[in-house]
Amino acid sequence: MRRYLMCRPTHFAVTYRINPWMDPTAPYDNALAVAQWEALRQTYLDLGHTVELIDPLPGLPDMVFAANGATVVDGRVLAVQFRDAERADEAPAYAAWFRERGFAVTEPKHTNEGEGDILLAGDILLAGTGFRTSHASHAETQEVLQRPVISLQLVDPAYYHLDTALCVLDDTNVAYYPPAFSPGSQAVLRQLYPHAIVANAEDAAVLGLNAVSDGRTVVLPVQATHLADELRSAGYQTVTVDVSELRKAGGGPKCCTLEVRS
Ligand code: ARG
Repeated sequence: MRRYLMCRPTHFAVTYRINPWMDPTAPYDNALAVAQWEALRQTYLDLGHTVELIDPLPGLPDMVFAANGATVVDGRVLAVQFRDAERADEAPAYAAWFRERGFAVTEPKHTNEGEGDILLAGDILLAGTGFRTSHASHAETQEVLQRPVISLQLVDPAYYHLDTALCVLDDTNVAYYPPAFSPGSQAVLRQLYPHAIVANAEDAAVLGLNAVSDGRTVVLPVQATHLADELRSAGYQTVTVDVSELRKAGGGPKCCTLEVRS
């Protein structure tokens, strides 16, 4: 069973644009975002996972995306440093949450947006770069979290965080959308994961890869029907959720979920 940290979208809004999904002129429904988030949280509880909460702060509309709050492996916490000023104040709030609970927290020297770009896959870390997390942070991540880091180059601005283009399914397999990666990174992924589940453009366009797997059950957006079929054919169980309101900020289930590995 997994331990997750989440942040209720009390202050969720789309008031700035730091990724192509965000349109500050388009309407959004805060109450619906909260209801969708509550359903996601309940999904984890029903699966037997633990969900802890961090207090949402006013003026930080993207704080609901807890995956960007840290990377936690073996009780070691690498804190984050956001690319964009709009999200900068989330970093100390997440670092404080971990410090208050006795975790060893390392402050980063380089830009990294936590589990948005740094994903534990078995014994190694897959790390994205190209839009948010800097390449320099990958070496820092390896040093702090003490796992080998594989750098992957993201090339499509719509898939600006690694977790929008790749989902770790279990210790030995992933699902991903190849065109989100450079040719060299696609070759690396083919080598590492010959049996990977390959998502199509429709799956990617509904942020279907922004899914959360506990190794057996994959929680993914209800709109990603092809990906869900592929996952079931490969022997995974699927549970679907509708987080369409949060997608207006460029996020899905995984963005709302930070795994705490003590
Ligand atoms: N609006 C947020 C941003 O652009 C969305 C973050 C989504 N988080 C994620 N882990 N992909 O930073």
